[in-house]
Order: sequence, then structure tokens, then C-alpha cells
Amino acid sequence: MARSWGGYQNFYLNGKPVVERKLGRGRGIKRASMWDPKDFKGKTVLDIGCNYGNLAMEAVRQGATWVVGADNFPGIVTSREFIEENNIPNIDMWQVDVESREFKKHTPAFDVILFCAAFTHMRNATGMLNWIDTHCKETFYFETNSSFNVEKMMKVVKAQTNFGSYDLLGDSGDVPGHYSFFRCTGRTPEKLKEIEDNKTIYESRGRVPGQWEQSPPGWELKVLNDENQHIIFLPINKIFGPDIKKFEHRRERINYLKNSIKENSLSYPLLVKVEERTDGNLWHMQEGGHRYMALKELEDRTDIPCKIIVKRWNQ
Ligand SMILES: C[S@@+](CC[C@H](N)C(=O)[O-])C[C@H]1O[C@@H](n2cnc3c(N)ncnc32)[C@H](O)[C@@H]1O
Repeated sequence: MARSWGGYQNFYLNGKPVVERKLGRGRGIKRASMWDPKDFKGKTVLDIGCNYGNLAMEAVRQGATWVVGADNFPGIVTSREFIEENNIPNIDMWQVDVESREFKKHTPAFDVILFCAAFTHMRNATGMLNWIDTHCKETFYFETNSSFNVEKMMKVVKAQTNFGSYDLLGDSGDVPGHYSFFRCTGRTPEKLKEIEDNKTIYESRGRVPGQWEQSPPGWELKVLNDENQHIIFLPINKIFGPDIKKFEHRRERINYLKNSIKENSLSYPLLVKVEERTDGNLWHMQEGGHRYMALKELEDRTDIPCKIIVKRWNQ
């Protein structure tokens, strides 16, 4: 199994550290013993800057119905292997820049959001908090980072979010005094409405007029883990698409798209057909072939937002 840089957490199974998997510097899951399990049972959970995802996996163990761990470090691949080997259900690991336009635009609202020890890692922490504020339906768990004045950081959190209460649960560090863990609850009906309206935008965004308005005959949008969620992030090399060697005559367009994606990120998800097989899914490009080829040539592209379509049962 690949060992990757940036590993910071330990893996856990059934609440116990997996010693032979001590890949990171060993951050544990003390925070999961501090949070309220009721917040997680039957809920959807997003862990922003999840690292290997030990908290995300713990959320699954405590009964969450769908958990997404999102981090841009390469260790996400190792986490996926661990999840597969141990048959951990209901969890997706997205290797994605959480500050990217793709992520912010295409990720739906979740019941619970975890944002632990990641504040100072953000290029724009207030922007991330704003996004969280419009994508967290119930409970927000926030952890400060070491060496930062807790009061100062919480002032920013409170200014950028609208929760009824911000309760300090205590010192969550493996080294005392370095981390403080907060549970934020109490969404107002107005905020919930704003999130609901935002969801409508989520549903309509990602579409462009014309060919994109409709799935091809016999296919329809696949409803994924959440009733309104049709988008997942897939590594580009998992998707079958046009062979760039046969499209050299479109080089100008492909180069234009490469520059545009580098500068502005990807504005619209790719439309991808899923072929559901017992030995795993196969993904095939449906719309967005030029962007697909541009993305393939951009080596730093990892998880790409994809709208998934599936064959109708009656076809
Ligand atoms: C200090 S670690 C905290 C890990 C985990 N949340 C925890 O508390 O154990 C910060 C994490 O944020 C991730 N991160 C930093 N910037 C990010 C970004 N723009 N997009 C996604 N992940 C990011 C890092 O890769 C790292 O795993």
C-alpha cells in the first residue's frame, strides 16, 4: 500500500487503532468520544479536510447513512483502499480542493459538517465558513488549530456562521492545550429555508442550455446518496472517454479548455453514464468529451465533478 505525504491520522477499526496501519503522525479519534452520537445516527456527514478520514469512518460506525470525507492530499487513495479492504459502507472519499469552485458549486448540503484542525490550512478560511453556513443543516463540529488564539478564531467562526449556540466540548488534542472542540447547533427556520433554496440552485446549476438539458433517450439522472444529489467526484482516470490521439484535429479547442480550466476551474460537471456491474461500476463519458481530454492532459486534476446518468429500468 502506498505511503503518502501529509498523513496525519491513524486508522481505526471498531474504535481501536489499527497498529500496522500507523501511517500518519498518529492523530486519533478522541473527538468522536466528545461528540454527541445522536447527531450522527441516520444523518449525512461531510468531513472537510478529513486527512485519512478516521473521523469520517467513525461517523459511519455511529450510524451515519452517508459520509463524505474531502481532502486534497494523495493519502485519500490509501483511505479508499482501507475502506474497500474492510468493507466500510456508506462512505465516499473525495480527493478534492475544498476551496475550489467545483467543490463549492456542486457539493450538496449535509446534516452534519466536521471542520477539524483545518481552519489555518485554508487559503480563505472565512469563505469556507460562509460556505459551511449555507451547507450545514443541523450540527457543525469545529476544532481550532494549535498555536492559535481560540477566542480570536471563534470570533471569526461566529461572525461567518449563524448557529444558535457554540458550545465548547473541551480540549480535543492528543497533546493537551493544542486543540479546542466546539459543537454548534440551533439553525433558525430562515437559515434552513436559505439552505433549501440553495439546494434548488444546486439542482439547476451544473446545467447548460441545449444538449445538457436532457439525458439521452433511455437514460435518466441517477439519484445518489441524498435525494437531491446527482453529482459525485470521480478520478478522471476512472472514466472511459475519447482517445485524445484520435482528436488531434481538435487540439486548439483542447488547449483552450486546458487554459480555461487551469485559470477558472471547471464550471460544469461532466455527464457520465454508469454501467453498474457486480464487480464494480464502469463510468463512460456522455457529454463533455473535449473537457474530458483537457482534464486528462492536466496531470494535477484528481476528482472531477460528474453528473451521473443511469439506464432506466424499463428500457
Ligand atoms: C491538520 S490536518 C486536519 C485533519 C483532520 N481534519 C483532523 O482533524 O484530524 C488539515 C487537513 O486539511 C487538508 N487540507 C488543507 N487544505 C485543503 C484544501 N484546500 N482542500 C482539501 N483539503 C485541504 C490537509 O490535506 C490536511 O489533511
